[in-house]
Order: sequence, then C-alpha cells, then structure tokens
Amino acid sequence: MPAPEDRATEDSAPRDPAPRDPAPDERVFGDIGTRKLFDNDQMSVWELRLDPGQTSDLHRHDRDYVMVQIAGDRVAARFEPDTGGTFAGHDYLEGEVSPGAVVFARAGGIETAINVGDQPFHEVVVEMKSRRLPGLLPVQHISLSVDDHDRAIGFYTDVLGFEVLPRPDFGIAGSWLVTGNGIQIHLIEDEGFVAPAGPHIAFETTDMAAEVARLRGLGVEVGDPFELNGSLQTFFNDPAGNQFELNQPRPS
Ligand SMILES: [Fe+2]
Ligand SMILES: [Fe+2]
Repeated sequence: MPAPEDRATEDSAPRDPAPRDPAPDERVFGDIGTRKLFDNDQMSVWELRLDPGQTSDLHRHDRDYVMVQIAGDRVAARFEPDTGGTFAGHDYLEGEVSPGAVVFARAGGIETAINVGDQPFHEVVVEMKSRRLPGLLPVQHISLSVDDHDRAIGFYTDVLGFEVLPRPDFGIAGSWLVTGNGIQIHLIEDEGFVAPAGPHIAFETTDMAAEVARLRGLGVEVGDPFELNGSLQTFFNDPAGNQFELNQPRPS
C-alpha cells in the first residue's frame, strides 16, 4: 500500500511546488574595517578608511558597536535584504560625515560602506564583545533569604563590599545591595530559613590568594582553593549559610 505522500502524487490536481531549502549563502563576507587596531576579550577596535568612490568589504555586525567619525564629507551604507539591528528595514542610507560624531548601533547589520564624498573617509569602529542574546537581558538581581537580616547585613557591606540601595518598605526586614558589576542582591529575612547546601553564587577574582587572605583576615571561613578545568575556585558562606564561590578564571 502506498504511503500517503505517494498517493498524493497520483492526484491529477496541480500541486504547489515542494518548499525548497533556501539557497546557501554564497555571499563573501569581509572585515568590518580596513585594519584592526586593537583586540582583547572585551572589544575589537577597527579603523575604516575609504578613498572617494571606494567601497568596504561586505560585512556583518554580529556584535553591538560604536562608530566614531574622524574625517570625510559624505558616506553611505548599502544594506542587504536580511540586514537587522539598528538599520533594519533600510536598503540604503547616506549622510554627511561630521568628524567627532559617535553613533551606536545594535548588532545585526549586514552591509557595505561606500565613500560617496570627495574626501578620504576615516572612521573608528569599536565592536563590543559582550553577547546580547535574544530574549532576556543580563541578570538584574538575585534574591537571597537570610534567617537574621541584622546578623547578615554587615557581611554583605563590610566583608563583600556591596553598596546598600534604597528599598521600598515591604514590611519585612531586608536590604537591596549592588555588587561591583551592577548586579543587585536582594536580602529578605525569613526566620527559620535553612540555606540549601548546593546552590551558590560565584564571584570572580583576579588574585585568589590575596582574596582568600583578605576574607580570612576578616574572620570568614574559606576553603582552600583548588583547580578545576584550569581555573581556581573555593567556597565560603554568609552568616545565614548561603554559599558563595570565589573563582579565578583560567588565563586566556
Ligand atoms: Fe559597518
Ligand atoms: Fe560553581
């Protein structure tokens, strides 16, 4: 007995053509600038120099970036149909160069730059390497329970060095704190709270030995650091028993 698909082909009625896979991308992509000036784990800095009439490589911006115009008079960008990011929906944009102008653009552009002016065009492009995933933005805060807020707060301010932020009156003891990289920790008092053994929050350090000595000097019990996958880590607890990790990533 034929499979249902086979029966369908015997049908005399005209059929829609089978959907095809999209054509493979045959475009050749080049660099976003004409020369890379700097590169580290946080950013790449390019310069883009185009003589009058000259066109850049076709390139994609996979990361958010900042353009700083330095010289030139008129510049244009031609966008591919599948371009995204800040200039999504445009197929061509042209404008005057104004030296010193700084323009931020979201990742997603697929484009070619063209010097449509009479003067040499010069721009610096700073590409950020922090990744912006579709959907959720970075962690904003983490909420932790503590059995005794008054006992815990000094640990977070004096030992960990976090700043206290204004907090609405919820009618429950607690604090909002902010860490060095802007992530907040919200403490909520929950009498009788018993911290779970496994979950923990890890903080990075660039000098494990110094940080362990500092914490121990402040009376915190800290385990001996050990190596895991090339990085160093160790653990300690807040006065309520919440577990924290100290992590010194493997040098890249
Ligand atoms: Fe570009
Ligand atoms: Fe961990």
